[in-house]
Amino acid sequence: MKWRAVFSILGSVTSIRDLPQLIGQTVTLSAWLQDKSGKGKLQFLKLRDGSGFVQATVFKSDVNEEVFELARHLTQESSLLITGEVRADERAPSGVELAVSELKIVGTSGEYPITPKEHGPEFLQDHRHLWLRHRRPWAILRVRDAVQRAIVDFFHGEGFIRFDAPFFTPNAAEDTTELFEIDLFGENKAYLSQTGQLHAEAGALAFGKVYTFGPTFRAEKSKTRRHLLEFWMIEPEVAPSSHAENMALQERMVSFVVGRVLEGCAEELAVLERDLDKLRPAAEGHFPHVTYTEALEMIRRVLTSGELPPNVSADTQPVEWGDDLGAPHETIVGSQFDRPVIIEKYPAAIKAFYMQPDPEDPRLALCDDMIAPEGYGEIIGGSERIHDYHLLKNRLDEQGLPLEAFEWYLDLRRYGSVPHAGYGMGLERLIAWICGINHIREAIPFPRMLTRLSP
Ligand code: 4AD
Repeated sequence: MKWRAVFSILGSVTSIRDLPQLIGQTVTLSAWLQDKSGKGKLQFLKLRDGSGFVQATVFKSDVNEEVFELARHLTQESSLLITGEVRADERAPSGVELAVSELKIVGTSGEYPITPKEHGPEFLQDHRHLWLRHRRPWAILRVRDAVQRAIVDFFHGEGFIRFDAPFFTPNAAEDTTELFEIDLFGENKAYLSQTGQLHAEAGALAFGKVYTFGPTFRAEKSKTRRHLLEFWMIEPEVAPSSHAENMALQERMVSFVVGRVLEGCAEELAVLERDLDKLRPAAEGHFPHVTYTEALEMIRRVLTSGELPPNVSADTQPVEWGDDLGAPHETIVGSQFDRPVIIEKYPAAIKAFYMQPDPEDPRLALCDDMIAPEGYGEIIGGSERIHDYHLLKNRLDEQGLPLEAFEWYLDLRRYGSVPHAGYGMGLERLIAWICGINHIREAIPFPRMLTRLSP
């Protein structure tokens, strides 16, 4: 078929998603063939067009000989213009099917590598550019889109403005071992940003409530189900604000986003066979809070009881006060609740230099992590920031950080400082939990990991 002929009918093409409202009408779809079956006088074509999936039937008696032969010889992933009547069919997941009257091939398809049989994760990631066309990535990446839109709507509804932090930064903000270094024409060193927080703080003191939303880069050599080299982070920052208000904002945001996905992504969650009863409580809010010290006690109790949640090995050791929680510890705490839990007030010594000490016990930081249930671990990290100039300067000194690089950041405390707070949420971690998927590499179109830079 001539490509120009496709352009001429584009305006009258119908989306598969709209078919349930068009029963009895004749429509034309621009679609791809996912799979085909049938014999004799009947062919079943499984179609997709990006908006959804539908089965089309081609009866020999309903079409001319040429169309029937074309249907019989179609190959997987051929692109088609296909016309037919929308018929109700209660056996179909969408409640409709298409009775074909016309069929044209727009682009033929060679021997398509991802056949309907089972393939391993490495093979699928090698073919990610094609695998994106299949049902599972379709569902996950549509949830990703819904989550992103919900986040933007949430923050704008709360009076925030979107504020873009730079991707090239001159120094570390979280941990120097996680930085990707870039050679700036052999003169200066720069690093890919591991957080937009420090710049968001400047934004908060200018605009009150801001959020950044963009890619973040961490040179983490750990090969885990929860780490990417490049992930997307949402970082709201509010001035003035407090640790308590910061946690309340996190809870409102997560329950808003989960509520939106439950409302708008029923088909996607059904494709993923997500148990919705595991998600619904999060949409209600009322997230439990435990302190770091209480969490250590909880972990000890669960470990001695021997009733360990899935993926926690029997040789897991309790955490000594002052040490950070590992993934199995987060899994233990997360598994005690039916919705995300907030762990607050970690020892200041294991947290970033900018966190405000707890006035009741300066060994602790006014910070928190939000832990998702079902073993998904930390999805949010946040804190109240040090607003006092001298205290911040001392912290920079103690940690041996280069003062000149932080002069601008100290300015935020020199000129009209106020208590302020914010947090960062990893988009892919949130999506992995909402979708119930095992590895966050599926939560982003093209994952970047230690062993994966392509496609
Ligand atoms: O806890 P983190 O390191 O916090 C910060 O970067 C703060 N500056 C944020 C802030 O206060 N504005 O990271 C925040 C979140 C984590 O909770 C996790 O969800 C996600 O970012 N994250 C990752 N996601 C995927 N791959 C990685 N390698 C990640 N590292 C962190």
